[in-house]
Amino acid sequence: MMVAMATLLDALRPVRSLRVAITVPLLLTGALATGCRGTPALSLMPTTRPIVIAHRGASAHRPEHTLAAYTLAVQMGADFIEPDLVSTKDGVLVARHENEIGGTTDVADKFPSRRTRKVVDGDTIQGWFTEDFTLAELRTLRARERLPFRSHAFDGQYGIPTFDEVLALADSLGRARGQVVGVYPETKHPTYHRAIGLPLEPALLASLTARGLNRANAPVFIQSFELANLKVLRGQTSVRLIYLLDRGALTPERLREIATFANGIGVNTRMLVGADSSAVPTTVVRDAHAAGLLVHVWTLRPEPAFLPKRYRGDALAEVREMIALGVDGIFGDDPFLVAEGTGRIRR
Ligand code: G3P
Ligand code: CA
Repeated sequence: MMVAMATLLDALRPVRSLRVAITVPLLLTGALATGCRGTPALSLMPTTRPIVIAHRGASAHRPEHTLAAYTLAVQMGADFIEPDLVSTKDGVLVARHENEIGGTTDVADKFPSRRTRKVVDGDTIQGWFTEDFTLAELRTLRARERLPFRSHAFDGQYGIPTFDEVLALADSLGRARGQVVGVYPETKHPTYHRAIGLPLEPALLASLTARGLNRANAPVFIQSFELANLKVLRGQTSVRLIYLLDRGALTPERLREIATFANGIGVNTRMLVGADSSAVPTTVVRDAHAAGLLVHVWTLRPEPAFLPKRYRGDALAEVREMIALGVDGIFGDDPFLVAEGTGRIRR
């Protein structure tokens, strides 16, 4: 138990100094649970609300989309871990936020000659792309923190996980704590991937099916910014689908239309409270619930570079505001902070 507590406290230090000792009975009880052999840990949707979704893992504390980031997230109280998915040259799904990996790995050092230029969803991008590398080649890379103001102490330590490895990790972490750990995959650039002959959806559904997770009550949400992608998926799976939205008006009529192919929406915080200092709540949560949709919100981040000024540096206030608005789930880079806001843990 002392090891687990020390690890957790150490992980939190880079983001904020701790004013008082942290007590995490829920986390440690669960993380250290024994005698759970045979527990159907990755079986049913968690019933907690709002759910804590670890955005790219505990990405405020570890390089994003690494098994270490996902593991720490669960230790911090996350209900779900979020892998963004792209494809390798040989059609394997791996967890990266972009198919361009120059900013989050050491690929420039190991494959300097493989730099190229591509147009992805209308944007011209120079760099190194997962679809140009086999899984065996990607296995030689190590992840790096992308943001300069976050800790780089873990750079070079962790590899790029496959989606199958993320699913296996969620299962084993859930069994260890005796409580389900859900997985919340996002299809990144699905139209682009299909156009280059590496469609994401068949591989995604095959991996879920192999683990018995291709069903409506599985602890899985599939998310996408691409409406057409979700509509196709709706015809292929009963797994819950979340339509991601960054901006724009969400009328009751539009929400009812979304409800014909998705189970919920995943919205930018500014669609719920606006981006300015007035912070007038919108009716999106109420209207979405009336349409039968879940509402998940992204992305809560603790650092001043991200936190809107009206919270005056109090990142917990933002979490509490989202909860007061009635959201069903919160994506956070710091799962501990989000779990704290739910009242499940205290410092
Ligand atoms: O998936 C929800 C949120 O993560 C969308 O933003 O760009 O971090 O994938 P992004
Ligand atoms: Ca995402």
